[in-house]
Amino acid sequence: MIKNKLLIIAAILVTFLFNSKLNAQDLKGDELKSMEKYSGVKGDNGIVAPDLRLSADQMKWWQDAKFGMFIHWGLYSILGQGEWAMFNNKIPAEEYAKLATKFNPQHFDAAVWAKIAKDAGMKYMVLTSRHHDGFALWDSPSSNAHFNSFETAAHRDFVKEYTDACRKAGLGVGIYYSPMDWRFPAYFKPKELPENALLLKKQTYGQVEELMKNYGKIDVLWYDGGWLAHNGKDADAAWLWNPVELNRMVRSYQPNVVINPRSGWEGDFQCNEGPSKVSGPIINTPWEKCLSLNHSWGYTPNQTIMTTKDVLTMLVNTVDRGGNMLLNVGPDAQGVIPEKQVTVLKEVGDWLKKYGESIYGTQPGPFEPKDDYYGAVQKGNLIYIHLLKNTSELQLPPIKGKIVSCKQMLGANLKFKQTTKGITISLKQLQFDPSISTLVLNIR
Ligand code: GLC
Repeated sequence: MIKNKLLIIAAILVTFLFNSKLNAQDLKGDELKSMEKYSGVKGDNGIVAPDLRLSADQMKWWQDAKFGMFIHWGLYSILGQGEWAMFNNKIPAEEYAKLATKFNPQHFDAAVWAKIAKDAGMKYMVLTSRHHDGFALWDSPSSNAHFNSFETAAHRDFVKEYTDACRKAGLGVGIYYSPMDWRFPAYFKPKELPENALLLKKQTYGQVEELMKNYGKIDVLWYDGGWLAHNGKDADAAWLWNPVELNRMVRSYQPNVVINPRSGWEGDFQCNEGPSKVSGPIINTPWEKCLSLNHSWGYTPNQTIMTTKDVLTMLVNTVDRGGNMLLNVGPDAQGVIPEKQVTVLKEVGDWLKKYGESIYGTQPGPFEPKDDYYGAVQKGNLIYIHLLKNTSELQLPPIKGKIVSCKQMLGANLKFKQTTKGITISLKQLQFDPSISTLVLNIR
């Protein structure tokens, strides 16, 4: 007992000392493996079951939305070492469970989170209703050992408060759920411990059903961590989870919910996880870049966060390639999103207030993006170009339509020349925007 406590304290101290140097790229071991599984959009993400896929019409709101808020929040926020603290520090489940007696956030107000998301120009939110540590943020009768916020210190159903606030703010309601649960030994030895594995599976089915049945219309279901014993792909674990059956159940309650690819079924969109740069050509399938503003997903007291320009560059690089971006914040144990994160989000929102027209509801093209130079999107007879480099002239490939005007968004008209060989735009009149300069071409 005392040894375990000492171990936890030592682990907290060590992590605290190294926190300031941590960077998402510096993740180690299984936590890193977990991120690498989803870095880069891959086409091999799971079992195919076409009847489960949403139609293009059903996906439209999500593809138009472009920008969402990811929230990693749970018991681990108390430890301040990110959401993998339990596993990384080998904290025994019984020890870790004691954190639930301390989890009683006094400043949690879902309406405040929703407002921060709205002010940032985000259109949907995704909350970790239950991460790999197994602690559920709602009144969850299926939770093994009553490990949930309703039956412990807080006595609150945070999922209810969150889904209500999200909907009230007009944001898409997204729920993250991790089928895996480190508390079950069978997660690491599923074949050797079949009874325990079935218990784990039962919990997953029960909890997913609760989430899909009891909280009104859910717009996004974001699974994470189907891979057993941190090995292979999520689809390799399909023999246990049976993701097609699981998602048929989900669809019976939520026929329109947009589902990510991490249950072992291929899902409605592809994922690209982590801070790596978005580059290359347009991707012609719905996809989402998810990454964290801070160096870790879950709360850490030392915040090494992205700059506003980094966030905007990531956003336009994603949107110009046809993707959405889900940007994570990590509220502290009291439910407060750190001030530094709010400041960056606010600045991102200020840019989107001015230039959002070149983001929301757009389609990538007609020009393929050129890494570190420009990317483009289109809407009706307008083409928007996001400039990533300060140059005096922009060269673009030819297009069929005739350009009738070319200007900087909210700025001056720009001289251009269009021939069958291509387009040249003079940027001499451009007021270079320190974030991203955006041009708009009107085509007939
Ligand atoms: C990785 C991490 C997990 C995090 C997720 C977010 O899979 O292991 O902690 O929640 O990425 O996409």
